[in-house]
Amino acid sequence: MSESLFVPREASKEEKYTTIIPQIEALISGEEDLVANLANISAALKEAFDFFWVGFYLVKVRELVLGPFQGPIACTRIGYGKGVCGTVWKEGHTLIVPDVEAFPGHIACNSASKSEIVVPVIKDGEVIMVLDIDSDRLDDFDQTDRQYLEQLIHSLEAKL
Ligand code: SME
Repeated sequence: MSESLFVPREASKEEKYTTIIPQIEALISGEEDLVANLANISAALKEAFDFFWVGFYLVKVRELVLGPFQGPIACTRIGYGKGVCGTVWKEGHTLIVPDVEAFPGHIACNSASKSEIVVPVIKDGEVIMVLDIDSDRLDDFDQTDRQYLEQLIHSLEAKL
């Protein structure tokens, strides 16, 4: 396995995703450990897009608990239906939040976070974790992010 990720620097968002997703898929295909894979997915997305915060929250009994991530320290526990992550846990589908301050109940782990996308990871019909990506720019996520991040999460789900 190559030790570094190839990321085209001057490329469009779509080109970046189409370049890095196969590399991430190759990376996780050779590893069975979940935490190792979540850590490398977080690192690869952070490196490719320089997002403010990228990471996973895992469902543990009645809360989401912070998992592998890249970025500043973050809230460790989120309740069912709380904030963007808890809402995605409850509703079971991706949410794009263009302005976090306009999202009722948004949990501000860091005041620099301005927009957010959260994608559920589903096993046997149940949300078992979420991928959360925060940007320090307003309205930074669109349907391109949704499409490719969901594709990446489907590859992860296939290994669960
Ligand atoms: N903003 C999220 C909480 C997680 S952090 O942003 C890392 C939310 O409202 O669920």
